[in-house]
Amino acid sequence: MTTLILGATGNVGVHVVDSLIARGEPTRIITRDRENARRVLPDSVDIIEGDMGEEKVLLGALDDVDAVFLLTPHSYTMADLQLQIIRMLRRSSVKIVKLSATSSGIRPDGPFTLRQHWEIEQVLTATGQNFVILRPNGFMQTLVAAQMLPSVIESQSILNSSGSARLSMIDARDIGEVAARVLTSDTWDGQTLVLTGPRAVTFNEIAALIGEARGEYIRAIDVTPADVRASLLSRGVEGWEAGHIQEMHQLFRDGGSEEVTGDVQKVLEKSPRTIENFVRENFAYVGTPTP
Ligand SMILES: NC(=O)c1ccc[n+]([C@@H]2O[C@H](COP(=O)([O-])OP(=O)(O)OC[C@H]3O[C@@H](n4cnc5c(N)ncnc54)[C@H](OP(=O)(O)O)[C@@H]3O)[C@@H](O)[C@H]2O)c1
Repeated sequence: MTTLILGATGNVGVHVVDSLIARGEPTRIITRDRENARRVLPDSVDIIEGDMGEEKVLLGALDDVDAVFLLTPHSYTMADLQLQIIRMLRRSSVKIVKLSATSSGIRPDGPFTLRQHWEIEQVLTATGQNFVILRPNGFMQTLVAAQMLPSVIESQSILNSSGSARLSMIDARDIGEVAARVLTSDTWDGQTLVLTGPRAVTFNEIAALIGEARGEYIRAIDVTPADVRASLLSRGVEGWEAGHIQEMHQLFRDGGSEEVTGDVQKVLEKSPRTIENFVRENFAYVGTPTP
């Protein structure tokens, strides 16, 4: 049987595909850009070019498929697209493995995107279709590499909007491995798995780890979630997005991302990747430390 991956060329999707291919599983993807997919994914992936929200494209990609990984980008209309896809998939008997987000915020009054994930989960679990929900904490690739690397290189500093709260961020490679397992096994069917790193750390601790990896002092500058929103708005980020990020930073600051679970260990039978390793891999050799 074949596994269909939606969102295959993004932060998480590439690792889901890599893990499936490494396990010898027939894997298909839908992408809007075949050339890019060829560049970033292994050769043996079956690529369908098109828009996953179009019925002809999605249903046309289901031949011999028994499980679909449902990931669409963070956007104002994320819930609309995912609900449309779930409705289309109801005409088949595939299992849907849905990627959600930080578990404590998946509620009707959570941050904007997490409210969308809440709505999608409600529909998915009520359809009667076989499912697994994965609720990962913030990715190290986003919160640490993408958000901190530029300011580390530019000004030997990071912004800390979480105060003394800890975050148990997860490496997206672990999400990929977990997704590959649950897509190809029935052991976890009907379950919601909360995916975290092996320990929770403060932003001050991350600054110290980056400093150690680079051999230079990295300052953690205290800011508030409202400061983050104001800065994003001043750089032209849309209002809903800036508001969502403020809400996420407030959730972090209130300790909403501190929980450490054993779900990655339970599925993979090994510990999740550590923040120490991630920082060494991503910060040690990038940019020139100041003398
Ligand atoms: N960042 C975090 O820390 C974090 C934490 C927890 C949860 N999340 C959740 O993770 C999800 C985002 O994951 P990500 O960061 O891996 O996404 P991403 O890097 O933005 O990738 C999005 C993918 O969707 C594909 N895509 C978008 N529109 C498409 C369309 N119409 N048809 C076909 N493919 C389409 C893109 O592929 P092509 O360009 O090849 O078409 C791309 O592969 C969101 O649901 C977010 O809430 C994020």
